Amino acid sequence: MNKEEQGSIIDPSASSQLSRRGFIQGLTGAGSFLGMAGLGAFAGTAKADNAPRDAQGNIIPGFEKDQQATTAAQGWQPVSERKIKVGIAGFGLCQFGAAFYYQNHPNVEVVAATDLDPNRCAQLAQRVGAKKTYPSCEEMIKDKEIEAIYIATDAPSHARLAIMALNHGKHVCSAVPAVFGFEAEGEAEDLFKAVKKSGMKYMMNETSTFHADLYAKRMQYQAGALGKIIYSEGEYYHDFGPNGLSGYNPKTGKVDKFGWRRGLPPMWYPTHSAAYYVSITGGRFTEVSGLGTAGRYPEFQAENNGHKNPFGTEVAMYKTSEGGISRMAVSWDMKNAHGEKGRVYGEKPHNPKISGQRPPLPPGVGGGGHGGSHGQLTNNFIESILLDKKPIVDVCDALNITMSGVIAHKSALKDGEWMKIPQYEL
Ligand SMILES: NC(=O)c1ccc[n+]([C@@H]2O[C@H](COP(=O)([O-])OP(=O)(O)OC[C@H]3O[C@@H](n4cnc5c(N)ncnc54)[C@H](O)[C@@H]3O)[C@@H](O)[C@H]2O)c1
Repeated sequence: MNKEEQGSIIDPSASSQLSRRGFIQGLTGAGSFLGMAGLGAFAGTAKADNAPRDAQGNIIPGFEKDQQATTAAQGWQPVSERKIKVGIAGFGLCQFGAAFYYQNHPNVEVVAATDLDPNRCAQLAQRVGAKKTYPSCEEMIKDKEIEAIYIATDAPSHARLAIMALNHGKHVCSAVPAVFGFEAEGEAEDLFKAVKKSGMKYMMNETSTFHADLYAKRMQYQAGALGKIIYSEGEYYHDFGPNGLSGYNPKTGKVDKFGWRRGLPPMWYPTHSAAYYVSITGGRFTEVSGLGTAGRYPEFQAENNGHKNPFGTEVAMYKTSEGGISRMAVSWDMKNAHGEKGRVYGEKPHNPKISGQRPPLPPGVGGGGHGGSHGQLTNNFIESILLDKKPIVDVCDALNITMSGVIAHKSALKDGEWMKIPQYEL
């Protein structure tokens, strides 16, 4: 390895770099999809015939290959005989409710499933083997049998449903982002308070956290090998294209082009890039200056979307809690730009003796999509309940990752004015 390689996390989408640098993670699709890049190109991957597809019939990036469970059980030791009773919400465009191996985990019994759409609800129940179905997550949360809720609904609903579930004494695992949009600042306060008051576990399923390269860097950092991180940068790039991307639309009850993804401010979806600092160090972004460029597609004109967003690309500079600098970028309209990737540079070089291996997974649980991260996230959440330990992306991490982007967008609207990011620590 040369110096640059030792100090950085490489772009997993650069196939020419893959063999040279020996990384096991690659991107095979045309880009990433709100978090759907960094696919596991492992031995034991398979193309899923029933993978979710977009309006053009293309498999949504992130789902072309799954890291299968065939080799996953090696080295795994159960921490408990207990089965956590889980309810799962959401089977939209990405069919995320069924994609995280809850139905396979030996310490989980999926007891209920829900989606507002009866067909999607029935499909989800069938895929995860749930005995009960509910017409909404709100109804499912009232089920006293359920101990934990996995929220895979549209982004704007996450915080509200998470708070409701926590207040009903359930553990919560939420798809990204933790909070959303104009409501985010108030939601962040309420979510933080609900976690604190309830004492239940809250985790955000940040898929980049278990990318092989990020996880290896996390191990280096947490063993003290790197010292402080002087500079880090991360990107999440996915060209939406002129036809946009579908998402749940509360006005129609359908997953359509006028849903929550239409004209989405890039930095309202900062999670997969920001993880390349927060999930490595556990540190925080404290202040931000953001900039945006005028969106190249009609949906990214402020008058054409419900988010009043004029930007298709946003870049943020952050001050970090270690006294370092970070640059995070999200783009929906740049050409030849795709993937979730980052680079991290510390004061000291890697220690080759520190293993960067991700934890072993239980029998039947694969890494799955997004670079083999799905099964890892579920296993981490379930073990956090069983062992009463901090989930790998807890509410404080989740709120820093998410709010850093929300404030970055606010700053971009004011042409880069420096702004403080609210801090949440348990
Ligand atoms: N890499 C990643 O981490 C990654 C990748 C893709 C999607 N996601 C996240 O996963 C989530 C799901 O994505 P998607 O594309 O399937 O979303 P979507 O908008 O297409 O679908 C959301 C689904 O949730 C259902 N729903 C909404 N409110 C509900 C309620 N109150 N009760 C029950 N069901 C409800 C809707 O009917 C719909 O079927 C999103 O939040 C997205 O941000 C994360």
